Amino acid sequence: MENKKKKVAILFGGCSSEYEVSLQSAYAVITHMDLEKYEAVLIGIDQKGVWYLYQGDLANIPEDNWLTKEDCIPVAVSPDKELHGILVLKESGVEKISLDGALPVLHGKNGEDGTVQGVLELAEIPLIGCNTMSSAICMDKETAHRLAKECGVKVPSSYLITKTDLRQEKQIISYGEQLGYPLFVKPLRAGSSFGITKVGRQEELLAAVEYAFDYDSVVILEEMIEGFEVGCAILGTEKLTVGVVDEIELSEGFFDYTEKYTLKSSQIHVPARISQEMAQKIQETAIRIYRGLGCSYFARVDLFLTPEGEIYFNEVNTIPGFTSHSRYPNMLKEVGISFEEIIARLLEM
Ligand SMILES: Nc1ncnc2c1ncn2[C@@H]1O[C@H](COP(=O)(O)OP(=O)(O)O)[C@@H](O)[C@H]1O
Ligand SMILES: [Mg+2]
Repeated sequence: MENKKKKVAILFGGCSSEYEVSLQSAYAVITHMDLEKYEAVLIGIDQKGVWYLYQGDLANIPEDNWLTKEDCIPVAVSPDKELHGILVLKESGVEKISLDGALPVLHGKNGEDGTVQGVLELAEIPLIGCNTMSSAICMDKETAHRLAKECGVKVPSSYLITKTDLRQEKQIISYGEQLGYPLFVKPLRAGSSFGITKVGRQEELLAAVEYAFDYDSVVILEEMIEGFEVGCAILGTEKLTVGVVDEIELSEGFFDYTEKYTLKSSQIHVPARISQEMAQKIQETAIRIYRGLGCSYFARVDLFLTPEGEIYFNEVNTIPGFTSHSRYPNMLKEVGISFEEIIARLLEM
């Protein structure tokens, strides 16, 4: 019986500013897996980007105590399509492990952006989640906006700035004037609100741009959309299951890192306090974006709803937070799908 279990790699950690968040998400995923049916092959990636096969206590993962000599063996994905698996670099030699699937539970750069997905696809390890192209598109806020627009969805006006543009302060200031204040300055490819500033006046613009460059080599200036943010959890590849729409109620500023993980002054309403009709319109828009951006398995589509009832695209999180109090599982819970059921469905797919 033992060896009939399907081997599924769960990737956690990552060389990303969202390393800590990934540890929490991965722990929740692993502890909600049916271990009668599946064997979890735990692959921890440290903040330097070094990969290990982790064989220690699960509880060490969310505590960030997993990286020890005793519990970790260096590991590499083999690009060999016949093995479709990993090479465990033991002192006694190399052990090969074939995998039936891999679920990256990594957030942000080097994990949610198509890079890890590419490595897994090259090795022909069935990937549980959005593929390389879709992950890369959704990570890049500008490219995602362009495609969403192509799907007929409204998007905020924006301008891109590269490091060479940084010398042209006048140009940046003119972008700010065209977008109006307040506006948002963001690293093009990041997450968890790292590097983002809501800029209230021109005097703060250049500092915000420089700050965003700490997180990426390209920065995006974005028009502020009035209203509030809503989210939509989507599960599936061909046949889609859509969760109820949720709503982020802010009382100040924006949904920054602190708010996301403490909800200090903000609140999440599931379901959103909107009409049934509007919720359906949001779900339909989210599905259009999910399909248009080539998503599969799961993703959370975030949109803004204006006071006039207009829907604007914000972003797609191809690996949204996955702790048991995260938005993605909570939205699906409202349609009767438990956390265990989400994981079971993903692994079955
Ligand atoms: N154009 C915008 N208009 C209004 N609020 C925005 C805009 N862009 C971002 N925000 C606010 O900033 C938060 C983080 O921005 P987002 O683009 O979602 O980045 P991340 O990928 O880090 O989640 C959003 O949840 C929202 O509160
Ligand atoms: Mg966001």
